[in-house]
This record gives sequence, structure tokens and C-alpha cells, in this order.
Amino acid sequence: MTAPQAHAVFPDTGAVLPHEHFWSDAAFVQERERVFGRCWLYIGVFDAGDALSAEMAGLRFEVRRSGTVMEGVCRDGDRVRPLQVDRCGALVFARVAQDNGPTLAEHLAPYAERLAVMSANGINPEPPVGIAFQANWKALVENTMDDFHGSTVHPDTIHPAVHPDWRSHLVTERHGANSDSRWRLADGTAGWWAKLDAKLRMRRFAEEPFYRHTFIFPNFYLATFYGATVIPHRVDPVAPDAAVLRWQLFLPTTRLETPRERAFHRSTAAYLIASAGTVIDEDRPVCEAVQQGRPGIADVPGVNGVYGRREQRILDFHQAMLRQLGEPA
Ligand SMILES: [Fe+2]
Repeated sequence: MTAPQAHAVFPDTGAVLPHEHFWSDAAFVQERERVFGRCWLYIGVFDAGDALSAEMAGLRFEVRRSGTVMEGVCRDGDRVRPLQVDRCGALVFARVAQDNGPTLAEHLAPYAERLAVMSANGINPEPPVGIAFQANWKALVENTMDDFHGSTVHPDTIHPAVHPDWRSHLVTERHGANSDSRWRLADGTAGWWAKLDAKLRMRRFAEEPFYRHTFIFPNFYLATFYGATVIPHRVDPVAPDAAVLRWQLFLPTTRLETPRERAFHRSTAAYLIASAGTVIDEDRPVCEAVQQGRPGIADVPGVNGVYGRREQRILDFHQAMLRQLGEPA
């Protein structure tokens, strides 16, 4: 009989994060320093104001712009460190200033150009939304990257919105730490968007009948519908067992002139925000149940199970985390 392995290893996929990384204070502190204290992080999109702020793992990021110059600081109690600030299209990213490490474009590879194009649709901002989860931030990231949970967790929301033969029409790309998934919309859903487009004359970055999300390590993803609507999401760690999912809807139009057009845009945006909230309300109990159950299965060997071909982006995330934490991947 062999002793249980703390770090389950799969022949083709490499190492996964130790289980305690999902609940221990020590792992949370390590992530604050080595992941959130080093990586490029999505901060937001400037609209009316010249200031953006974000809080991740106890670090507070404050960014200001003055003309074309952007600068900022990272506050950690009394410790104040300068930020490097850069943008990809309209998306503003920052990291604690350092001599080494990738440029923002390198960090976003191979999606920098596509993200910049999509970010041009970051107009007509709706108010940001934050939804608290009683779960480790990585459980939310894993949930997002699980391309197969639509039919089980979202049987009445996402599942009917995507093509019935979604297995054939789901395209998943993996590029190390970053990845992209897209689902072809069901004909009825694509038709709904086409009618919306006819009424609102939406701005489109691509003629694509997809629901797509592009994940950027460690905690950002941009969801898009129909090559029009863009929804940046960021998962903010709050505590080892708590996180906030922050997102903002942009329903971009090429013109909003009449009161009737503006009213229709308002009601459509409200409907989309409510729908997204319903989907997140379906994900939240799953993530929270996973969080509750995780410590109890820590010593059971092989309990991580076997990941399918398209689920390997979850393992890619684990390996990117291990690299960033300085552990052997
Ligand atoms: Fe979900």
C-alpha cells in the first residue's frame, strides 16, 4: 500500500496546486506577494473619471491618468509601492513596478491584439457589479474555465442559449496561462441578437455568432456576445475562503439619438445585467459547495479526477500558478 500523495500528478498534465492552496492563510499570503504583488492585473476601463482603483488579496491598486500619462501606487498597509501602468486598447492593467518580468503585451499573448479590438466596444458603460462568493478566488476561475458545466449548472439559462450540438460547436484554445473558449449561439439566440442589432445598431468588433470568453492569468476574463457586447470580469481574492466577482456590462451602439432608442437601450442593458446575475446565482452555490467540500477530500489520492481534453485549461491555470509561486511545475 502506498501513502496518499499530497500533490496528485497526472502523466500527461503535470502537477496541480496542493489542496491547501484553496483554504490556507499561508497560501493566501504567498499569492498576495508572488501573484498579485507581481503580475499584470486588470484594473478597469476609464470612462468619465481619471481614477481607477481595485483591491485584490489585501493589496490596494490606485491608478490615475493625466492626459496620456498613467501612473499609480499599490498600498499594502503602510507600504506604498509604485505601479507600472499600461493599457491594451481601453483595458487598463497595472503591476507592482519591477525590473524584470514580461511586458503587458507579452503577458496577454497571444490575445493582446484581439483584446484591444474587443475593448473598443467598451462604450456605454453600465454600473459595475460586485458579487461576493464564500469561496477561494481560484474556485471561481476554475468554474469559469469549466467549459462543460453549462448543461448541468445552467440548464435553463446558458444551455438553451448556445447551439444544441454545443460539443461540436465549442472551440477551446489553450496558450499556456491564457486561454479562450467560444460557443456558437443557438439560432434563436443569434436571431434575438440580430433583432437587437437592427434596433440599436450595435457596434460590432466582429461578425461572429458566438458567446466567447478570453481568460488572462491570473484573474481576468472578457466575455463577449455576438461580437458586440463586452463584459470584463475580474475575480478579487478577499480571504482564503472569500472572493468577489466584479464585472461591468458594455452594450455598445453606433448611435443613441432619440429618447426611444435610449429607453430601449436602458431596458435591454437592465435585462442583460439581470440575466447575467441569474447565471452567477447558479454558479455561486456550486463554487461555495466546492469550497466547503475541499478540505475533506485533501488526503484522498487521485480525487482531482481525470480531466478531459477541453478541461486541461484548468490544469494550465494550476501550472501557471505553480510557476508564478516559484514551485516546480
Ligand atoms: Fe457557470
